[in-house]
Amino acid sequence: MDIFVIQGGSRLSGTVRVSGAKNAALPLMAASLLADGPVEIAGAPRLRDISTLGKVLGHMGATVERVGEGENGRETVRIDPQTVERAEAPYDLVKTMRASVLVLGPLVARHGKARISLPGGCAIGARPIDQHLKGLELMGAKTALLEGYVEVEAGAGRLSGATVCFDMKTVTGTENLMMAATLARGTTVLSNAAHEPEVCALARALRAMGADIEGEGTDKIVVRGVPALRGIRHEVMPDRIEASTLLLAGAITGGDVTVEGADPSAMDAVLTKLAESGAEVFAAPGSVRVRREGPIRSVNVETSPYPGFPTDVQAQFMAYMCLGDGFSIVRETIFENRFMHVAELRRMGARIDVSGNTAAVKGVPTLSGAPLMATDLRASASLVLAGLAAKGATEVLRIYHLDRGYEALENKLSSLGARISRVKE
Ligand code: EPZ
Repeated sequence: MDIFVIQGGSRLSGTVRVSGAKNAALPLMAASLLADGPVEIAGAPRLRDISTLGKVLGHMGATVERVGEGENGRETVRIDPQTVERAEAPYDLVKTMRASVLVLGPLVARHGKARISLPGGCAIGARPIDQHLKGLELMGAKTALLEGYVEVEAGAGRLSGATVCFDMKTVTGTENLMMAATLARGTTVLSNAAHEPEVCALARALRAMGADIEGEGTDKIVVRGVPALRGIRHEVMPDRIEASTLLLAGAITGGDVTVEGADPSAMDAVLTKLAESGAEVFAAPGSVRVRREGPIRSVNVETSPYPGFPTDVQAQFMAYMCLGDGFSIVRETIFENRFMHVAELRRMGARIDVSGNTAAVKGVPTLSGAPLMATDLRASASLVLAGLAAKGATEVLRIYHLDRGYEALENKLSSLGARISRVKE
């Protein structure tokens, strides 16, 4: 297994280009199952999760290939769903990537049935899919849990429009049911829908495929079923979580980092907190720059559904607050166990007390490098940021977690002056 070796203390500066958003590319790949022709996803990041979903689609019989180097070395994933013959996602693939659940809605909508390995929990929480199943049942589907698989069958071979009110904001729940509704008979209303930019990007792609959708980005999405959807070519939006992580790498090291290709309009909550912490933030269409020269001011953060502070940036921001000038209260309201980075940060000298879903971070003047264990995708990024700012050497083990969501992060950071290398354990 690979590890990262980091020599802390370098101020990061320069410009780096952000990759396409993992959490936008995954639903787009699943949406290809709805189409009557090939779907091309331009700018998909080269990540394990993307190739895992590609394997899931391939297992079903779809043709999946990465074609040519697009502009800026960005690749295009081309999926032809016309050869799909098995509406099934097997355990050995789903267990490595929960987002495989996104094939559920499209399969039931297009093929009238689906058999998906029930995604297990993961490090950050139980991650149930009851909202996904509740919505499909309201749309006339029958669901059953057998031997760890969820089997779903549309009534009379086709889903019917329904009104679905989510008990909580769920990103993939909203995406799954929006996709299912595009080919259903009649109109579907999704209430308490998620507003994430990735949900809105999926709605735009489905509309380009011929779907009749309105209201994305609000609490209420209305989808009128159509007979069929066509293949399209769609550009993946930039990854706002990776962009936030790269900007925090600049802020935590007292550097000056510009992230090209980022969309600041999707990052208000993070940029606001960076500014409150004393960093200078310069936002322009297509790029964001952060520079920090003075002390890090400790600020409080509470995660919440978009447009609130993203849970996927909570761990990275906590690493930054470990070097703050006072106390920072970090509250995680989305997942029940997303503080696994705390124990590792403490090993570097961080002062953090946790009570339930609240962490009190007392800033310290310096962190010291240490061997650390990555536990989940965003916690791993938090440890890398802490290592960049720490005195001495840090080793981050099990960075396969990181490779799920960050494309060649060590290259991006090295291009900004970080002393980081990937070595075989
Ligand atoms: C998406 O996960 C993202 N993944 C996550 O990013 C992100 O952290 C999360 O949204 C929140 O923004 C993808 O988009 C592929 P949810 P998702 O359904 O859809 C509960 C990363 O780091 N819930 O919005 O699985 C759930 O347990 C990943 O890239 C139910 O109880 O998250 C959680 O507490 C991690 N029942 C809350 O809702 C359900 O049926 C929000 O979950 C569905 C969700």
